[in-house]
Amino acid sequence: MKIKGKKYKTIWFENNVVKIIDQTKLPHEFYIKELKTIDDAINAIKVMEVRGAPLIGATAAYGIVLALMENKDQSFLENACRNLIRSRPTAINLKWAVDRMFSKIKGVNSSDVLNIAIKETDEICEEDIKFCKNIGLNGLKIIEDIYNKKKDTVNILTHCNAGWLATIDWGTATSPIYQAHQKGIPIHVWVDETRPRNQGANLTSFELNEENIKNTIIADNTGGILMQRGEVDACIVGTDRTLSNGDVCNKVGTYLKALAAKDNNIPFYVALPSSTIDWDMKNSENIPIEERNSEELSFVEGLDNNNKLKKIRIYPKNSKSLNLAFDVTPAKYITGLITEKGICSASEEGLNKLFK
Ligand code: MRU
Repeated sequence: MKIKGKKYKTIWFENNVVKIIDQTKLPHEFYIKELKTIDDAINAIKVMEVRGAPLIGATAAYGIVLALMENKDQSFLENACRNLIRSRPTAINLKWAVDRMFSKIKGVNSSDVLNIAIKETDEICEEDIKFCKNIGLNGLKIIEDIYNKKKDTVNILTHCNAGWLATIDWGTATSPIYQAHQKGIPIHVWVDETRPRNQGANLTSFELNEENIKNTIIADNTGGILMQRGEVDACIVGTDRTLSNGDVCNKVGTYLKALAAKDNNIPFYVALPSSTIDWDMKNSENIPIEERNSEELSFVEGLDNNNKLKKIRIYPKNSKSLNLAFDVTPAKYITGLITEKGICSASEEGLNKLFK
């Protein structure tokens, strides 16, 4: 998608370095950062210069390319893979990408291994773009149906950033929105601010603005009253890990939106590429929920009146805070899963019909 009218992807390989849009600097600064080593890639994932399940999967794949450029020794590579998988625990895409890369390069002799790794990384990225575009085309039908009944602006509520910045291009939850906008359907997005890191306000609103899509940032607790007032036609969110029974784990607060949507009879959709399906885990209680530094809650960053970036403490110094980054939305609250292969019920049966 575009930034200042120019098309970008979120990650690419150029002159033997990996380039990323540093998302910790958005929306106030557009900065392209170079990753040169495996440690750069691991750090970019940990500090969330790149974030969003599909993008951290792609960064892990590029991390393996960088590791091979440093050292082709098997034990160095295995250590790199372990550290990549551990860098953020919740999104399954990290393990998915590392396993996929490892199965391609395992046993390949050292003169070919780098080229094979680069080719596989390119394929992971190209596939993600294709899948996200298809999610958009499949999800477009939902928005078209609402518009055909309503004949007025369609209001979609989304949480966090499951936009193109979270993937390589298009996004998951935002992809149907981009498709609808390109088709001329009037659309407006309620953007949950998404405390504590404000991915909604800083990233989703930013990327929608760049594509000229109307959006309004709301505090995370505002969705409920908007739903009661009939100002939300549908919710579409992303996911970091989808279990085969249809439960989804996404940015903390997603569950509360699903409850409010159920109470107000509003369709609640989750958009995902198949790379976020964890076919092995059967019980959502086993999903590792990332707990991040509580300073992400107690400090906020923004521009002061002189346009200078400032980080300030907003809580009492001696107050404790807890920063759980994800929660689980049980399948029973989900109207449907929008995937690259079509829309299905959030259930084993639904997912099996599309993918097995
Ligand atoms: O902590 P983040 O910003 O990586 O969380 C991102 C999300 O929760 C997204 O909704 C999810 O990764 C899906 S991205 C298409």
